[in-house]
Amino acid sequence: MPSQKTLTLLPGDGIGHEVMAEAKKILFWLNAQGDTNITIHEDVIGGTAYDQHGEPLTDATLAVCRQSDAILLGAVGGTQWQNVAYDKRPEAGLLKLRKELGLYANLRPAIVFDELIDASTLKPEIVKGLDILIVRELTGGVYFGTPRGIEDLGGGERRGINTQVYTTSEIKRVGRVAFELARKRKGKVTSCEKANVMESGKLWREDISALHHAEFNDVTLEHMYADNCAMQLLRNPSQFDVIVTDNLFGDILSDEAAMLTGSLGMLPSASLGAPGTPGLYEPVHGSAPDIAGQNKANPMATLLSLAMCFRFSLEMPSIADHLEQAVKNILAAGIRTGDIMAPGCTLVSTSGMGDAVIAELSKQYMKAA
Ligand code: IPM
Ligand code: MG
Repeated sequence: MPSQKTLTLLPGDGIGHEVMAEAKKILFWLNAQGDTNITIHEDVIGGTAYDQHGEPLTDATLAVCRQSDAILLGAVGGTQWQNVAYDKRPEAGLLKLRKELGLYANLRPAIVFDELIDASTLKPEIVKGLDILIVRELTGGVYFGTPRGIEDLGGGERRGINTQVYTTSEIKRVGRVAFELARKRKGKVTSCEKANVMESGKLWREDISALHHAEFNDVTLEHMYADNCAMQLLRNPSQFDVIVTDNLFGDILSDEAAMLTGSLGMLPSASLGAPGTPGLYEPVHGSAPDIAGQNKANPMATLLSLAMCFRFSLEMPSIADHLEQAVKNILAAGIRTGDIMAPGCTLVSTSGMGDAVIAELSKQYMKAA
């Protein structure tokens, strides 16, 4: 009997509902095979939670998340909430979840699948075989620093303030995650900041260097200014293995790295905290209000996030392997949602893609039996 695990599903807003429905279908299927014993809770976050409860993340939902082994999230946000106060906006629910659970390390892989090489706006020879992992600090920096706010200076003049702040322990704990992951990959870490203009960047560089010297001398460490990193990602992305950076630069650089792959609909992420903390898994893409409710969205990023969840939080790496293999086989068979459609391929809907994944999993299970 597989060990009992608890997973909370937070579909969120927009296409979050549709992509999550496919993840749920696969979870039910896995449970039915007797390979997993996962108790599923479903709850609301983001604009959907705001509409129901007046809060983008209620304490009750947070408590359910805390008691889970892991959380799978769809996406939050939508134009209908753009005039809601900052602390009640859909995004605030996600930030609260990250902060409250202490999910300080955000892993965002950018992988170019051979079958999707033409989806990139970059030349195929530049992105072929691309496999970068961005480790973004997620609970500090300018996203949470104080003082913050908008001050009235009188006479129609106002001042907007945010604070970039990092401590040594915040820098080292995320640095440690990056070095450890690099050890299992190509053994290189590029650390990005703006040490040339920011004290917090200077501290970042010094602390990462000290950590490297003390514990990770076997890994190659390179420092790079964040603006240069943005440029190098376009010029020669294969020079990178693991990139570690702060919350704001990580937000920007991970969108850029994601787009190198040409298929935002394929990219998963994991947000991890101290051992024993439930991990949060979510697709990198947003709620895509323009295609919401049309059964068009690509559920692959969510299903690959679920695979990361099996690997990092549920301790079932073989199921992660099966899911990832299913995705590769489907791409090889030319089955595509609209966002990655190419001439000669077969167009499927969101639910069609979920069915294709189950069909692939069945084949793999039959082979193993
Ligand atoms: C992301 C998103 C979020 C962020 C938003 C939705 C708050 O852009 O996860 O990258 O800025 O962190
Ligand atoms: Mg972002």
